[in-house]
Amino acid sequence: MKIHGKHYRSVWPIGESAFGIIDQSKLPFEFVTLELKSAQDAARVIKVMITRGAPLIGAVAAYGLALAIRHDPSDENLTATHDMLAETRPTAINLRWALNRVCESVRNHPRADRAALAWKEAQAIADEDAAMCEAIGRNGLAIIRDLHRKNGGKVNILTHCNAGWLATVDWGTALAPIYMAHDEGIPLHVWVDETRPRNQGASLTAFELGAHGVNHTIIADNAGGHYMQDGKVDMCIVGTDRVTTNGDVANKIGTYLKALAAKDNNVPFYVALPSSTIDWTLKSGRDIPIEERSSDELLKMTGRTPSGTILTVEIAAPGSPGANPGFDVTPARLITGFITERGTCEATEQGLRSLFPAA
Ligand code: MRU
Repeated sequence: MKIHGKHYRSVWPIGESAFGIIDQSKLPFEFVTLELKSAQDAARVIKVMITRGAPLIGAVAAYGLALAIRHDPSDENLTATHDMLAETRPTAINLRWALNRVCESVRNHPRADRAALAWKEAQAIADEDAAMCEAIGRNGLAIIRDLHRKNGGKVNILTHCNAGWLATVDWGTALAPIYMAHDEGIPLHVWVDETRPRNQGASLTAFELGAHGVNHTIIADNAGGHYMQDGKVDMCIVGTDRVTTNGDVANKIGTYLKALAAKDNNVPFYVALPSSTIDWTLKSGRDIPIEERSSDELLKMTGRTPSGTILTVEIAAPGSPGANPGFDVTPARLITGFITERGTCEATEQGLRSLFPAA
């Protein structure tokens, strides 16, 4: 993705003793990059969501663990740092998947070799994520092309949260097909759910789409159903933080309600995912741990004043408690299909296994 004419990934190595990320907490008002030098740095930016999105936190954690191994390659440090990073966010499976990959890459090797092996594995995880997302883009593009051929006009797509290049290493999951369709000249418009309480849609998805020149409109989370009833949504595409073997999907809170509205209005509802997001150990979405975050995220808002100052203000009745589940589970029956790096399939165990028979 290009920002001010320069190509960026969302995470990049700096030599072999540090790595860079974009400070997503400063977007959309400022584009700031950070240099991270330790696993503790990585854990902090994941926890407070300076970096976020299921595939990206996996890659950031992998680089963090690789830095810890450089500092101390013992088995004890490997296990302790793995556990410390794995605890930062509970719902996205990519985090544990990436940490396990780094552990496996060094486990049966002499300590002297471990730092180089772990760094190489972290880079492989990042490169593979970019390649998987590009393939998701090509597979999803075929669906958008088809809709355009049938409709003959502009394709209206609704998305929730941010599943673009900022949430992955490059391209994005749900947004990759949108970028490719736009680049191919298919007329598009994207309805961007603001995605309360952290506003990933209004601040990140809208920023990405704007930077790429994609026509879009930010809407309140509750407006999607209305536009579907009005025939103004041709399809929905969202990302996911964890898919279970029966095809249930955990994604940012509010996704479930969009899927219900889509079903009621015969709007196709697609979920885009790299295979690193499939949890082959869980049978159903009921087993997915749902992250509970601070109610401050709900009861306060951060924004920019006309004078350019960034301010956080209270927006709720003083003293009222809030509850803030980060994710919900959309049952497989509401999902039209999965878009993966290996192609598209039904949201069922059979569908997933048809694309990933060795899993
Ligand atoms: O809490 P976040 O911002 O990390 O949640 C991100 C999402 O829910 C994304 O939709 C998900 O990770 C999709 S992956 C590209």
